[in-house]
Amino acid sequence: MTYFIATYGCQMNVHESEKIAGVLESMGYTLAEDIQKADIVVFNTCAIRESAEQKILGNIGALKPIKAKRKDMLIVVCGCMSQQEAMAGVLKEKYPFVDIVLGTHNLADLRKFIEQKIAQKKRVFAIEEQQDIAPRDAMPMVRTSGVNAWVNIMYGCNNFCTYCIVPYVRGREISRPMQDIVKEVCQLLKEGYKEITLLGQNVNSYGNGKDETFAKLLQTLDALPYKYRLKFMTSHPKDLSMEVVDVISKGKNIAKCVHLPIQSGSNKILEAMNRKYTVEHYVSIIDALREKVPGVTFSTDIIVGFPGETDEDFALTLDVVKRVQYQQVFAFMYSRRKGTVADKMDGQIPLAVKKQRLQTLLAVEKEISEKLALEHVGEVEEVLLEDVHPKLANKLMGSTVYGRAVTVQGAGRVGDFVKVKITKVKNSVLFGDIVEDEYGYFANDATLFKNKRTS
Ligand code: 5AD
Ligand code: SF4
Repeated sequence: MTYFIATYGCQMNVHESEKIAGVLESMGYTLAEDIQKADIVVFNTCAIRESAEQKILGNIGALKPIKAKRKDMLIVVCGCMSQQEAMAGVLKEKYPFVDIVLGTHNLADLRKFIEQKIAQKKRVFAIEEQQDIAPRDAMPMVRTSGVNAWVNIMYGCNNFCTYCIVPYVRGREISRPMQDIVKEVCQLLKEGYKEITLLGQNVNSYGNGKDETFAKLLQTLDALPYKYRLKFMTSHPKDLSMEVVDVISKGKNIAKCVHLPIQSGSNKILEAMNRKYTVEHYVSIIDALREKVPGVTFSTDIIVGFPGETDEDFALTLDVVKRVQYQQVFAFMYSRRKGTVADKMDGQIPLAVKKQRLQTLLAVEKEISEKLALEHVGEVEEVLLEDVHPKLANKLMGSTVYGRAVTVQGAGRVGDFVKVKITKVKNSVLFGDIVEDEYGYFANDATLFKNKRTS
């Protein structure tokens, strides 16, 4: 019996699919070669924008003729899209060939629902909200992200940014106990993982309201006796404390690239978005990080075409992008989400205007990221080798502690930290040669390399 998981959306979903795989493998399923041959297909869905939902519904629909021929194929839809009542209704009425629909809170019972469907032959719909996170934490998992391991630190979101569906589909914030997180990370490092990414919708508000805070968690994990990269996402600017800035600056393992979504460069729009910070406050955090963490880089999320966004508001967004000099910008056209406050706002922006603004923003950012990348040609940087290159023969992919992607040539192994001399830039990706591997050999110099090995 085989399974196939189609994952959409954020890293939280990627990690949840690792848990889905864990459950299915514990039931005896193995990974299918392709979706059409699988005995069980799971769609782990995203609801953040309408385009994601349309694509997912199209892909679910494409299985209809296959399921008509293979009646015992099981189709499961879970994740953020199915947590919405209206969408669960659509799946019930218009997609009768979908067998199981689970909300984000019901994933831990996946095995039970599959067994129930097989035994009773009745469709299963379970989208109730549950506050207990222990069952989700206890799910088995099959990790799929190479040298990186995702680690949940909190679930849910309390912020209700007016454009965002997440608080409605993921429920209220609940943090995992710090002891559990530290134990999981220790185990992963012992197993040889070289990068740990802490996951939460708003990691900065991690904690139990008492002694467990995000700063303390970061500090504790940073101090573990291993060499590795510690990353986290996503940070909300209103909750990023100076204590966290301080911990990052003193960290020995914490990556020096911070993802800090600004969403807009206009205070009027930020207020309408219910973001609870001003551009000035945001920039003050960037400046504090720059001062305390030399070389730190930034990435961000920006929404263009939020209701009421004028040309002037958009120009302010471009200003802040130029001011901060982001290494990477994830830019999105505003998408109306049913049930959110912004969906009912006046001043919805025409699609053509949103498209134009998106293009303009991406062009401005492309210039910045290329300029930033070029500054590093000739430098020697420490690179974590993350994978073999999928297209270029004899090349590896890695990244620096500043989050810059590097295509690497030379004798190195995935999982090693190596010193790389940057030789050129192509499409904002750095290219370089290994000049020293983790053990101090000069991997590119054949004689020296040989001598060192034999001596
Ligand atoms: N439309 C467009 N983008 C959105 N995001 C969240 N909700 C919406 C929406 N309704 C973006 C935000 C967030 C990122 C994960 O997705 O920029 O930071
Ligand atoms: Fe959505 Fe805002 Fe919560 Fe992020 S902080 S998940 S954008 S509501």
